[in-house]
Amino acid sequence: MLLQDKVCVIVGASSLRGIGYATAELFAQNGARLALVDLSMDEGIVGDIASSIASSIGHRPLIAGLRCDIENPADCERAVAEVVARFGTIDCLVNCAGIVQARAMLSIAETDYDRVLGVNLKGAFNICKSALAVFAGKKAGVIINLASVAAQRGGGLVGGAHYAASKGGVVSLTRTIAREFGPVGVRANVVCPSMVETGMLDGLTREKFDEIVSAIPLQRAGRPLDVAGACLFLASDLSAYVTGATIDVNGGSHIH
Ligand SMILES: NC(=O)c1ccc[n+]([C@@H]2O[C@H](COP(=O)([O-])OP(=O)(O)OC[C@H]3O[C@@H](n4cnc5c(N)ncnc54)[C@H](O)[C@@H]3O)[C@@H](O)[C@H]2O)c1
Repeated sequence: MLLQDKVCVIVGASSLRGIGYATAELFAQNGARLALVDLSMDEGIVGDIASSIASSIGHRPLIAGLRCDIENPADCERAVAEVVARFGTIDCLVNCAGIVQARAMLSIAETDYDRVLGVNLKGAFNICKSALAVFAGKKAGVIINLASVAAQRGGGLVGGAHYAASKGGVVSLTRTIAREFGPVGVRANVVCPSMVETGMLDGLTREKFDEIVSAIPLQRAGRPLDVAGACLFLASDLSAYVTGATIDVNGGSHIH
């Protein structure tokens, strides 16, 4: 098993339809111990997640659920401290938390900008910083941040300019972490999915969805497990010499 006994913190993992959940399930299947962190996490949700994973992989994994608003640095510090208190350490952070907003540039209000950048970029910065304090101390650790094809192609299929800019920031942030913390044994990589069938697409019309799919070389939308597979590779020692990389999970929709 690729992640046997590794303590993996997955942020943005409260929806059974989300990339965070798919990653949690795949990591559990590979022996990881899980701390699932989300703004909307509660005992009921973590119970549902544990049951769902158990019915899929055949045993109930070790899971802690923590509520945390990653926009708030103190909340991130507390969540990371709670994980360390509960599991003794952290080996891997996967940050899947994010929000999207479909807005044309001229319709993006300052409050929209602050909200999207606040969660997607400041939040990524905060949670990475908290985890890095642990990783620097133990001279080991892995960070995987979720950005988006929107960061690469000039705008999202769903999100506006503020979403694309926030995800561009996540790419830069991750590369900088890789460079700064490589010498102390920490790897950091970023995954750029395109359209993945999660709750994030709920606002998309069937016509728009079909139009986008018809232009994807692999002729389908992404599934949460497609992204989870890339995260598993990046979290495990299979990628021991990979850092600062951007891994596209986009069905060929953006080849560059
Ligand atoms: N679904 C797609 O098509 C797609 C495409 C490209 C990139 N992404 C990115 O992948 C990641 C996962 O998205 P998803 O599709 O699974 O969506 P999702 O909505 O299921 O997951 C996002 C999670 O982030 C949590 N969250 C929001 N604000 C938070 C905060 N302040 N603190 C803590 N948690 C917070 C939400 O509660 C939610 O559980 C996101 O970063 C998203 O931008 C998704």
